[in-house]
Amino acid sequence: MKDRILLRSLCDDDISEYADMLYKSFNKWYWKHGWSKDYFGCRTQETSIFYDIYNDLTPGKSVAAFDKNTGKMMGACFYHPREYHVSLGIMSVHPDYFGIGVGRRLVDHIINYVKTNGYKSCRLVSSAMNIDSFSLYNRAGFIPRMTYQDVVINVPVTGIVGGNIPGDDRVREARHDDVQKMAELEMEISKIKREMDYRYSIDNPRGVLHATVYENNQQTIDGFMISVKHPALNMLGPCVARDEEITIALIKRELERFKGTWVLLVVPIQKRKIIEQLYAWKAVNVEIHLKEVWGEFEGFNGIAMPSFLPETG
Ligand SMILES: CC(C)(COP(=O)(O)OP(=O)(O)OC[C@H]1O[C@@H](n2cnc3c(N)ncnc32)[C@H](O)[C@@H]1OP(=O)(O)O)[C@@H](O)C(=O)NCCC(=O)NCCS
Repeated sequence: MKDRILLRSLCDDDISEYADMLYKSFNKWYWKHGWSKDYFGCRTQETSIFYDIYNDLTPGKSVAAFDKNTGKMMGACFYHPREYHVSLGIMSVHPDYFGIGVGRRLVDHIINYVKTNGYKSCRLVSSAMNIDSFSLYNRAGFIPRMTYQDVVINVPVTGIVGGNIPGDDRVREARHDDVQKMAELEMEISKIKREMDYRYSIDNPRGVLHATVYENNQQTIDGFMISVKHPALNMLGPCVARDEEITIALIKRELERFKGTWVLLVVPIQKRKIIEQLYAWKAVNVEIHLKEVWGEFEGFNGIAMPSFLPETG
């Protein structure tokens, strides 16, 4: 079967087939494994937002597997070279081709890119409940470095209630002149940075992203939060912050964007203050995720919440 696989990057002509494959990949896998509902609750073609955003950020940085005999797309994955690392995602294989080595070919291709381009690490966030993806990454050399709990909050139409949050008045819209400070903060806390992502979120060319920052009294930044609001995914993150209080203030502000709908948050599992606040806002646990790293990892010096769009690793 492996001889039947042709690898190439995705192009605009593939968008429709890609969206169809991505939608079927996740929905089929999650139904099969007891999720009891569609993972993507949007229309099939709306999942093309993943291609759109990843391709805007890092054009051509994707790898797709095609069946040489039929020309059908078997699977695809994006990769995102940043200043010091590469992040990987979103990974998907068409259900007709699960379990025959397509995922592994895609991961190997990306690791090869990481090695030949001199990056010291590749990062991703994968479901701890998905033994197929866990095995895929683990066998390819990724090591789980952090556990997150995924929670969903249904934000009331009238917004979140629950009194004043300390630091609320320090949260404001992100601006272009924050980009460098956001990078410095993320370097300090997570040992990575990705200025193109922050700038893209602030510019928001597709109208689905939003960014806020937490400014301290020295006019510098102690935290930032980005979110995505789209039929395929409502999610807070990435968020980088010095402590849990700052994170809570950023979460509270960004939740206002989601009045009358649901939103997903992926929170470091040991950060008790954050999760207790989220429970007070009626958060429901839905999944567990792992940060997985191939290569160097220096740990975190604060709070880092990931996102799946753009995948942050
Ligand atoms: C997860 C997913 C991408 C895996 O892709 P796949 O093409 O089916 O995976 P592969 O056939 O390449 O198998 C991957 C590896 O895991 C191994 N494997 C599978 N189950 C295993 C298990 N229980 N224990 C140990 N190894 C296992 C396979 O042998 C293979 O390793 P190898 O190449 O060293 O032999 C695919 O199931 C999928 O698209 N799922 C839905 C979407 C999704 O979950 N995406 C990932 C989000 S985090």
